[in-house]
Amino acid sequence: MVEIDSSRGVGVSPRIIAIANQKGGVGKTTTAINLATAMAATGRRVLIIDIDPQGNASTGLGVDRRTRTVTSYHVLIDEAGIDQAVIPTIIPNLSLVPSSIDLSGAEIELVDTPRREHRLAEALAGQTAYDFVLIDCPPSLNLLTLNALVAAQAVMVPLQCEFFALEGISHLVKTIERVRQAFNPGLQLHGIVLTMFDKRNNLSDMVAADVRGYFGDKVYKTVIPRNVRISEAPSHGKPVLLYDMRCAGAEAYIHLASEVLKRERELVA
Ligand SMILES: Nc1ncnc2c1ncn2[C@@H]1O[C@H](COP(=O)(O)OP(=O)(O)O)[C@@H](O)[C@H]1O
Ligand SMILES: [Mg+2]
Repeated sequence: MVEIDSSRGVGVSPRIIAIANQKGGVGKTTTAINLATAMAATGRRVLIIDIDPQGNASTGLGVDRRTRTVTSYHVLIDEAGIDQAVIPTIIPNLSLVPSSIDLSGAEIELVDTPRREHRLAEALAGQTAYDFVLIDCPPSLNLLTLNALVAAQAVMVPLQCEFFALEGISHLVKTIERVRQAFNPGLQLHGIVLTMFDKRNNLSDMVAADVRGYFGDKVYKTVIPRNVRISEAPSHGKPVLLYDMRCAGAEAYIHLASEVLKRERELVA
């Protein structure tokens, strides 16, 4: 396990990290759930905000659709505060703001609202109950993702080791740049995490080398392997760290958490 450290203390604003990539199926939700669980296991207080209308983070954490009454939708349309929407999970230190299918209409509902890109940032202002907030974004660069990028201090990008991976990410990098210019000058690229790495497939190695060549040490050393236990865990409503703590996927996420926490100390310093 990663080292215990509660040095951030009580009364301090959380570090807010958006987990984003406009491509679906690259491991955003899996990374949000398992990174959050591994961080929570070190004693950090972690909140996941699920802003994908599909609600996979909520399902993967075993939160039944029927219990998702106050959601990130209500937070975004300003009908509820974060604290009203938060629910505990089966993991100590890990809480969740669940999502709702209503989020798919939020973009249209907010179209005439002033500062509509700042809804989530404003909802999180003054929040001190968490050390880390991870925002699980939908597979699109829409207003929901924009709200996450405006609220966050840093973005983590899961990238699947497949052909055209770099092409796909260039659009996201441009969006991050535009968000910096227009709304959130301090937004940092926390890092890129290579996911679903298949060591039997040469393509995985080639893509990884390409991405490292381009983004250098912004790419985490930890690589998440393709691992069947990771894909089974959500149907049991559990993070892979609880489903099978010893599998390669769980170990990779524990390593990723240590690396992220180390990088956090460098970014914040
Ligand atoms: N490392 C992995 N090994 C095997 N399956 C994975 C891995 N990471 C994610 N998956 C599976 O791939 C699918 C897409 O992952 P998900 O995290 O939901 O992506 P996203 O949130 O980017 O759409 C899910 O069924 C998930 O269980
Ligand atoms: Mg997802």
